[in-house]
Amino acid sequence: MVPTRELALQVSQISIQIGKHLGGVKVMATTGGTNLRDDIMRLDEIVHVVIATPGRILDLIKKGVAKVDKVQMMVMDEADKLLSQDFVVLIEDIIAFLPRERQILLYSATFPISVQKFMSKHLKKPYEINLMEELTLKGITQYYAYVTERQKVHCLNTLFSRLQINQSIIFCNSTQRVELLAKKITQLGYSCFYIHAKMMQEYRNRVFHDFRNGLCRNLVCTDLFTRGIDIQAVNVVINFDFPKSAETYLHRIGRSGRFGHLGLAINLITSDDRYNLKNIEDQLVTEIKPIPGSIDKSLYVAEFHSVDPDEDGIEGGAKNKEL
Ligand SMILES: *[C@@H]1O[C@H](CO)[C@@H](O)[C@H](O)[C@H]1NC(C)=O
Ligand SMILES: *[C@@H]1O[C@H](CO)[C@@H](O)[C@H](O)[C@H]1NC(C)=O
Repeated sequence: MVPTRELALQVSQISIQIGKHLGGVKVMATTGGTNLRDDIMRLDEIVHVVIATPGRILDLIKKGVAKVDKVQMMVMDEADKLLSQDFVVLIEDIIAFLPRERQILLYSATFPISVQKFMSKHLKKPYEINLMEELTLKGITQYYAYVTERQKVHCLNTLFSRLQINQSIIFCNSTQRVELLAKKITQLGYSCFYIHAKMMQEYRNRVFHDFRNGLCRNLVCTDLFTRGIDIQAVNVVINFDFPKSAETYLHRIGRSGRFGHLGLAINLITSDDRYNLKNIEDQLVTEIKPIPGSIDKSLYVAEFHSVDPDEDGIEGGAKNKEL
């Protein structure tokens, strides 16, 4: 079970790859917004692993198309999201169709009360494994640039020209700002895609797929996109609009460190964000430093060979002695 269609596609791609080595494990993804009849036909054959969003699979179960009375295991990715108000009722309904002897696995970057309540209700003596350190900000160097709202685009332009970006994800706080910024970036002469919740699902899928395949260097998006998405080629994440909660920050920035590779997170901070910056640093017990005049490429460029000695300062950035 996954909360978004993008994640369903990502997980199913990986499952199919792994399944090839497991003697023909049949994997299927099923999510809302796709043809129900196709799913019904595919479920007519044996399927070993279904990757689904809750609404669609519940629909298929209720229709008697997906038979789950022999399901041994339900894995919930981004469990905190799946157990939020939007989904928890569906999840409870699905569990009611499963056999009594089943295993439920919860994966989550955060552990809110909703998850704990669910655990005590449905799990028997669950075993807890905490890998948060590895999952989160390890390997990621975090900086902030202090700017006014009006300087943001200019600052971004400077970052583009000075950083060695393989692929970047740039976060804005609204659909409208995503579209505006994507337009500005294109005008500045950089290639860029954008993605947000108000776009058609099929189009969203295509943009995501194309970005993943490296067709474009930069992606502007809202938080829709943050959960659990791993794109290894992304070495820079930019918070064009700084998030308000530590959880959102973690989900946005944590990504590029997931496979233990290096990454850079750059936060554009206005005076309104100062309190949130401090707060998020405290909550995550991490340090977000002022952006230095030059950033050591070994911190974020995989094929790093040598530091460019000519690299000069980013405007407005304080020099950082440590670098
Ligand atoms: C998004 O950021 C802009 C600029 O900082 C701000 O004016 C606006 O209120 C923010 N919107 C939301 C929904 O936080
Ligand atoms: C850089 O991005 C391209 C796709 O844009 C990808 O194929 C390549 O592996 C990436 N390089 C690294 C070092 O991640």
